[in-house]
Amino acid sequence: MNYDIADPALAPEGYRRIAWADRRMPVLAAIRRRFEEDQPLTGIRVAACMHVTTETAVLMQTLRAGGASVVLSASNPLSTQDDVAAALVDDGIPVYAIRGEDSAKFYEHINAILDTEPHLVFDDGADTTTVLHRERTEQPILGGMEETTTGVIRLRAMANDGVLRYPVVAVNDSATKHLFDNRHGTGQSSLDGILRASNILFAGRTVVVAGYGDCGWGIARRAAGLGANVVVIEVDPVRALSAAMEGYRVMTAAEAAPIGDVFITATGDIRIFRPEHFAVMKDGVILANAGHFDVELDLKGLGAMAVARRTIRENLEEYELDDGRRVVIVAEGRLVNLGAAEGHPADVMDMSFADQALAAEWLVQNAADLPPKVYTLPGELDDEVARLKLQAMGAGLETLTEEQERYLGAWEQGT
Ligand SMILES: NC(=O)c1ccc[n+]([C@@H]2O[C@H](COP(=O)([O-])OP(=O)(O)OC[C@H]3O[C@@H](n4cnc5c(N)ncnc54)[C@H](O)[C@@H]3O)[C@@H](O)[C@H]2O)c1
Repeated sequence: MNYDIADPALAPEGYRRIAWADRRMPVLAAIRRRFEEDQPLTGIRVAACMHVTTETAVLMQTLRAGGASVVLSASNPLSTQDDVAAALVDDGIPVYAIRGEDSAKFYEHINAILDTEPHLVFDDGADTTTVLHRERTEQPILGGMEETTTGVIRLRAMANDGVLRYPVVAVNDSATKHLFDNRHGTGQSSLDGILRASNILFAGRTVVVAGYGDCGWGIARRAAGLGANVVVIEVDPVRALSAAMEGYRVMTAAEAAPIGDVFITATGDIRIFRPEHFAVMKDGVILANAGHFDVELDLKGLGAMAVARRTIRENLEEYELDDGRRVVIVAEGRLVNLGAAEGHPADVMDMSFADQALAAEWLVQNAADLPPKVYTLPGELDDEVARLKLQAMGAGLETLTEEQERYLGAWEQGT
């Protein structure tokens, strides 16, 4: 078996941590039990380019239980947990991922997983899709799965331009994914990353959240819960209004720059904070990015303004400006929750990865009849995942009485 990981000796710790995640992923466990019996993925080769975390390991094991052969590379150079990679390799799943790998290695690894001639590709940020559409344009692929908002935006642009080569399921767009993973997962774990790196107190600080989509919603809420004064920066008027009515101050980036203590981006856009903002920020501000790519903070621009740069703690780098002010960057401006913490808790990845597993099954059943477009999973699958999660949480779900069902389906009854 070929693979490329940091250190196979880390496997025992990886196994321990994967087991802990597994215990908190009951929905995926239920799907795995069904997959073991039904074998819906028999003969299917899967290449996944995803964050190499304990939860992803449980997903890989679930796909394998369904009959697939799986191979994994990293969707971000900083998110790989080397002990998890080691445990998966020990368990017979080839992994190509080393925490901190450079860009050349990153793409070498993506090409290594694509060399296995997969039927299905799993992406988190559309990186394998990009390689399959730029360089490996002849390689046949049955279908793909996309985990995150940024990847889905890219795929929709490709579909609109008529260049998408195979059908892709936008797993992000399942309600049981983005309403929970992006909101609660990113919300909690992004603050977790900033706290682990800096150990600052949020109470009483002004925390500026750029982007009030699902991720920004979660980050703002959690920061407010810790006692921060939250400021939101948004370009979408409805979302900006909704932030204002949640009680946050809404303002422009230029207005927020001189008053913020902590800045967190979650827009999926580029250069949200750039030299004109760094020039007016307070001494010692902390900047972190929760969006998919490391382009939301203009670190090149910051680097050009800096007279000195130093690492002050693990995952914390300080840029000193010519007037002595310091701007502190968490996890090199990469996904802060994965770079400086462990990513989303397993409890929420349970649903996202249940959606991934069901998407793989659905795609294998339907791909032959699907034109190369971006698809959202049928709503019944969302309902199934939500029901299983509620069951696991011990929450009762009310059912409609016959009378209520009749009432809700009728239009004749007036006031
Ligand atoms: N860190 C993680 O683990 C994690 C998890 C899920 C999603 N993501 C990523 O986070 C990003 C946001 O995801 P989402 O689901 O919240 O997306 P979303 O589309 O729901 O929200 C993004 C928001 O940013 C706003 N925006 C865009 N450009 C802006 C600008 N210049 N200034 C201010 N606001 C701007 C948009 O109007 C939108 O409301 C994406 O890159 C996504 O891939 C990260």
